[in-house]
Amino acid sequence: MRVLGIETSCDETSAAVVDGTGDRVRLASLVILSQDVHRIFGGVVPEIASREHLTAVVPVVKQALSDASLHLADIDAVAVTNAPGLVGALLVGVSFAKSLAFAIGKPLIGVHHMEGHLFAASLEIETAVPPFTALLVSGGHTMIVDVPAWGSYRVLGKTRDDAAGEAFDKVGKLLGLPYPGGPHIERLATNAPPSKLRYSPPMLRRDQTPDGPDYYDVSFSGLKTAVLNSVNERVAKQPLEDADRVELARAFQDALIATLVGKTERAVNAFGRKRVVIAGGVAANRALVSALRERLARGGVEVIAPSARLSTDNAAMIARAGLHRLERGERSPLDLSAFASQPLPGTSA
Ligand code: KG4
Ligand code: ZN
Repeated sequence: MRVLGIETSCDETSAAVVDGTGDRVRLASLVILSQDVHRIFGGVVPEIASREHLTAVVPVVKQALSDASLHLADIDAVAVTNAPGLVGALLVGVSFAKSLAFAIGKPLIGVHHMEGHLFAASLEIETAVPPFTALLVSGGHTMIVDVPAWGSYRVLGKTRDDAAGEAFDKVGKLLGLPYPGGPHIERLATNAPPSKLRYSPPMLRRDQTPDGPDYYDVSFSGLKTAVLNSVNERVAKQPLEDADRVELARAFQDALIATLVGKTERAVNAFGRKRVVIAGGVAANRALVSALRERLARGGVEVIAPSARLSTDNAAMIARAGLHRLERGERSPLDLSAFASQPLPGTSA
């Protein structure tokens, strides 16, 4: 089965083709067009994102088909992200996918963006299949999910305020780094010289218990404020220097990672999983992946992260999740709509 995937939920216009059945699915092509224009504004401007998708969606889809040496007639279904995301941006992909599916007479399938992220690693690494503990860390979401089987998700914890990527981006801004701040903070924090500056890992305390509401949840806004206070203290004396940026980036990243590692370890132990799959843009952070590997290696737990290309938003993961839903016999109606937020499908408490 060949599925064309389309992703326009934020600031990447992407199309991809996957081919296969069950857990044997290969990536035939992937095109990702990142909208650089938002750098000027230091964040994604929704109206501009929609307009850029409108210009890009047709050529991006054509390129994905041509890279896979396929024609529209060779496609068995069209999968598209329809939630969550910027509604105007989502609508471009959804409207286009609906017309395309109708025109070629093939099934349409709406895909939840975060379910897409869960499938990303499986396109590259054979063992990235359930059962596993998932750490979903993107610019808009942070979740710890137990995944006993594809399509069956138990959301254990979420962020109470900023998503992990959002915290990286906001701290990047505080440090005067370009948008998005995540990769820049990682670059500064890598090889930072030893420093005494430490922030305590937010929401991570020994006295938390599995039945308590804060056992798996995370929160990053306090950490962000701690960095802001450090910046203000230093700026009161002299302008921020590169050495300050390196020190603050490292202390921030260490605290954030300590919380994510601690909470993920709790989920792994509670459900006895032997695999952790990291997904979302922050999965591209090598320090996070290494810290998880180091902590979980003793228990023989495999930690899997997709390549940077498949960690950040892409249509390959949407096509892959769409293929799974199609195989389960699901189809979306041609009046499929777009939603800014929507719970992960197949969730149980
Ligand atoms: O999944 P994604 O591409 O978009 C959303 O669905 O939100 O994630 C984007 C986020 C941004 O916040 C970006 O700063 C972060 O992923 N990110 C990183 C790294 N690469 C991307 N954060 C930390 N370290 C990185 N290397
Ligand atoms: Zn995403």
